[in-house]
Amino acid sequence: MSMHKNLDKHTPNREVDEFSGIDTTGHEWDGIKELNNPLPRWWLWTFYACIAFAAVYSVFYPAWPIGSAATPGLLGYSSRAELAATIDAVQISNQSMLSTIADAPITDIIADPELARFAMAAGASAFKVNCIQCHGTGASGGPGYPNLNDDSWIWGGTIDDIYTTISHGVRSPTDPDTRINTMPSFGADELLDKDSIDTVARYVASLSGLEGGINSPEGAVIFADNCAVCHGENAKGVAELGGPDLTDAIWLYQRSLESIQAQLQKPRHGMMPSWSEKLNDVTVKELAVYVHALGGGQ
Ligand code: HEC
Ligand code: HEC
Repeated sequence: MSMHKNLDKHTPNREVDEFSGIDTTGHEWDGIKELNNPLPRWWLWTFYACIAFAAVYSVFYPAWPIGSAATPGLLGYSSRAELAATIDAVQISNQSMLSTIADAPITDIIADPELARFAMAAGASAFKVNCIQCHGTGASGGPGYPNLNDDSWIWGGTIDDIYTTISHGVRSPTDPDTRINTMPSFGADELLDKDSIDTVARYVASLSGLEGGINSPEGAVIFADNCAVCHGENAKGVAELGGPDLTDAIWLYQRSLESIQAQLQKPRHGMMPSWSEKLNDVTVKELAVYVHALGGGQ
């Protein structure tokens, strides 16, 4: 502020600097004179406004440190309380989502975009915890473990089908409502002779254009008599019985004549745990919504 005093017109040593043409303040040290370059007006006013703001702020909001805390401020604001309130609000809204999901039929959940989005996000994280060890991180499966992204479903692809499959598992030894069907051991139990097995295996291979496939009338007859009951007249599968489609490029086991022959000799059967025994119903519903949305839900 003493500098300002020197701006006074009456300062005796005030003069115009001959090199720069700017006024001096009248101060002089060993022949060095101080130029009078005042701060720009806008800068000064901004500076004063900041001071005024800080003064008002420190009255209303927590500001000055005292011991381990700070002056509380007249408004009683606290960032911690604000955070707690936000968390409470999220929990209350989650709670109401969760209880809606618990009560709603699964078809209603996917019909409501907001519920569906919530369920899908929760289902995605439950999937990472419980399902990827068998179905893979991208749910794309592997030999013996079905891909859940495609639109080929062994046990049906409606939201209700998927919900039932996840709830009760497949061939679960502990769940009486589990999905179950057993393909006969046509070779090992000598239900068909070697030639018939070879003929029908080549017939099945021909349906999806596999190498070694032969679409013979004999093969079609053996198929109609022995296989159609579980795999369908046209071999397109019977979801209620878990008999897979044998005409598409999607195979539970391998995509080869050898794999078909092996299944006829001594069939393999996939087994999936009953998830209603391990997870609550809300989580199972969320998983069903997630799996249904993966791409191939019907
Ligand atoms: C009683 C029902 C039933 C009959 C009859 C039956 N299957 Fe199956 N088949 C199944 C089931 C169930 C599966 C799926 C096994 C699994 O999910 O692990 C299957 C799987 C297969 C597979 C493997 C499909 C894949 O995607 O890897 C082939 C191939 C097959 N059957 C061929 C036949 C042929 C050929 C016949 C007739 C000779 C036949 N099945 C008769 C129930 C049957
Ligand atoms: C221990 C291995 C394993 C785990 C873990 C597992 N699954 Fe499966 N899952 C299978 C097998 C095997 C099948 C095929 C059953 C069959 O052969 O029909 C299957 C089938 C399915 C099907 C039916 C597919 C169709 O084409 O109809 C769905 C849906 C499914 N699983 C969802 C899940 C979900 C969701 C989880 C996690 C909660 C999960 N699975 C965890 C092994 C597993």
